[in-house]
Amino acid sequence: TIRSVIRGVGSYLPAKVVTNAELAKTVDTSDEWIQQRVGIKERHIAADGEFTSDLAAEAARSALANAGMTIEDIDLIVVATTTPDYTFPSAATLVQMKLGMHHGFAFDIQAVCSGFVYAVATADNYIKSGMARRALVIGAETFSRLLDWTDRTTCVLFGDGAGAIVMERVDVAEGEPDRGVLTSALRSDGRHWDKLYVDGGPSTTGTTGHVHMQGPEVFRHAVGKITDVVYATLEQAGYTVDDLDWFVPHQANKRIIDGAGAKLGLPAEKVVTTVDIHANTSAASVPLALSVAVGDGRIKAGDLVMLEAMGGGFTWGASLIRW
Ligand code: ACO
Repeated sequence: TIRSVIRGVGSYLPAKVVTNAELAKTVDTSDEWIQQRVGIKERHIAADGEFTSDLAAEAARSALANAGMTIEDIDLIVVATTTPDYTFPSAATLVQMKLGMHHGFAFDIQAVCSGFVYAVATADNYIKSGMARRALVIGAETFSRLLDWTDRTTCVLFGDGAGAIVMERVDVAEGEPDRGVLTSALRSDGRHWDKLYVDGGPSTTGTTGHVHMQGPEVFRHAVGKITDVVYATLEQAGYTVDDLDWFVPHQANKRIIDGAGAKLGLPAEKVVTTVDIHANTSAASVPLALSVAVGDGRIKAGDLVMLEAMGGGFTWGASLIRW
């Protein structure tokens, strides 16, 4: 069986950390409100002049080092982002340039917070079809640049960062233990577009715009959609929730993560949570959480890992990986 095996994981977080208490100096909010409603304590914020492709390139370098590879080994770069440096070209081609890769191909994926799961599924299909052999799959965001810093209902929720993995084509022989991406499921429903969106863009206002969110509506849809797609993904691969070693969800909100974990019947110890220290970094949140759990030794070779995300669109999806 041809599989896309995960060879390395890496991440990058901007140096600047902003705590809830610091935010409370400029917007009418409190550490207590934020921690209680969403479980966030602090977030990283990119410096002036630090762009999404810079964060992405740093995360990519760290994933390549972790894989023991160089950029010469890579023939595909996929960047999941909602906050590219420019309207065009893609952040992925800028990352390609910054890493000194002059072969292969690179492109962005836009599925907001679900972007990394979409990117894993996409790269997996390019690898399985034979169009690529080794892919750098990156989730990177400077989401802080889409925020209205006077709107307390949104500005407290997000942060900046990047995470990356290296995926490699491997022919897993009969009788060998299976590994790599086993299956993925992607979903979207554009009827919900205005429940979570940015009111700008090249074709509408010609400005970048700011995040608008119907928070309670997003919350209402999140847990059900997440659990549905997780069950569908497990069923596709012939597994059940009990087989999972780790659940690595999109880190939007501790209450959504806890709600989905409880509905799935997953013990809390199997759920990787980093929303407290990263906040919601959109497409970067899943690979950032992955790199924490791989880095501290929780996720090990042979473990069955479910990645999951849901975001604007709505888009949602899950990917089941034998590590
Ligand atoms: N600090 C203090 N008070 C606040 C803040 C804040 N930062 N933000 C809102 N409030 C106030 C509101 O103004 C409101 O006050 P009022 O009752 O006087 O009008 C009160 O808190 C309650 O507001 P609600 O919006 O009803 O609060 P709710 O309990 O629904 O919590 C929240 C809001 C946390 C956003 C919740 O709806 C939620 O978690 N939604 C999910 C959204 C999410 O996680 N989005 C992330 C992106 S989506 C994704 O990635 C899946």
